Amino acid sequence: MKTALITGITGQDGSYLSEFLLEKGYDVHGLIRRSSVDYRERIAHLEGHRNFHLHYGDLGDSLGIIQVINKVKPNEIYNLAAQSHVQVSFDSPEYTANVDATGVLRILEAVRLCGLEKTCRIYQASTSELYGRVEAVPQNEDTPFHPYSPYAVAKQYGYWIVKEYRDAYNMFCCNGILFNHESERRGETFVTRKITLAAARIAQGKQDKLYLGNLSSLRDWGYAKDYVECMWLMLQNEKPDDFVVATGEQHSVREFCQLAFQEVGIELEFQGSGIDEVGVDKATGRVLVVVSPDFYRPTDVVNLLGDPSKAKRLLGWNPNKTSFEDLVKLMVKSDMAKIASEGAAAKVKLNLEEYLEKGIVK
Ligand code: GDD
Repeated sequence: MKTALITGITGQDGSYLSEFLLEKGYDVHGLIRRSSVDYRERIAHLEGHRNFHLHYGDLGDSLGIIQVINKVKPNEIYNLAAQSHVQVSFDSPEYTANVDATGVLRILEAVRLCGLEKTCRIYQASTSELYGRVEAVPQNEDTPFHPYSPYAVAKQYGYWIVKEYRDAYNMFCCNGILFNHESERRGETFVTRKITLAAARIAQGKQDKLYLGNLSSLRDWGYAKDYVECMWLMLQNEKPDDFVVATGEQHSVREFCQLAFQEVGIELEFQGSGIDEVGVDKATGRVLVVVSPDFYRPTDVVNLLGDPSKAKRLLGWNPNKTSFEDLVKLMVKSDMAKIASEGAAAKVKLNLEEYLEKGIVK
């Protein structure tokens, strides 16, 4: 039986990857941070499975990481733990660097110190944010990087240290350059989930307006459940390599909004431009989407489009299993059910101040 260790197991990708590996017969171990609040919702259904084990640890704590790796002696490590929110990285740049940059080094060194460098394969969650202020469209494995946020700069270190350990110590470690990947389990402050939750609340009379930042930002959005398969395929490959994981299709935040609202029966029409742009319900004339400078980033990445040909060719991965339309549909469907089940008591008629105070927006 193969043993895998997943850091970031409580996150969107960690939960899907756990399910995927358990299904494949793996013994799955996960690293979780101690917290006084419950953040294990996404893996709650797996706790109690006889091949599912959790260990306390933190990417900021080398000794803890060494202990867990030494105990578990994994065949595969998936390093998914990160401070993963780009906008938050402007507020907490040092913390982001510690986890997203040095944290990767801690994992690689721990594997070496435990003498597992010949037997343990490592997957690093790299990101399309590395292309940042893009130098070419679409982006593939040869496109130059131009990181454009504290998050991306930290992730760039992670990317290069993985390559360095591969060359210097002949370790089997890979970078998955994943473009945005979403799902029903996506964190509520990332733009797609923020939109699908708001569409569901607005349709059910529980929210007045949705406040967003740059509506023209372009992304290549895929389904997270499909992407975890590709992480695994990279570690089954003959040789360690880096791969772009994307759909090859691009849409704007505005388009995502229109489609999500369409799914709840509201036809949105955008009027105006820049900070004055609004999304209006065509049937009633009500303004439902408002642009707020609070959600603009000091530097923003606005033109991401991935070319997944290499993963398709060498790993046999299918980048188009779930279409963009189906992704939006499944997220809206799930949020409609979630909001309906919360009942009338959860009515949140948010104005912008409340929105910001709740910290649910960035
Ligand atoms: N979060 C957020 N909130 N983003 C907004 C908003 C808003 O109200 N309004 C517009 N946007 C724009 C952002 O400026 C950005 O250009 C785009 O929507 C996507 O933002 P996010 O959903 O927050 O994702 P991201 O692209 O910054 O980062 C995600 O994808 C990366 C892969 O490319 C994260 O998951 C990263 O961890 C990941 O590396």
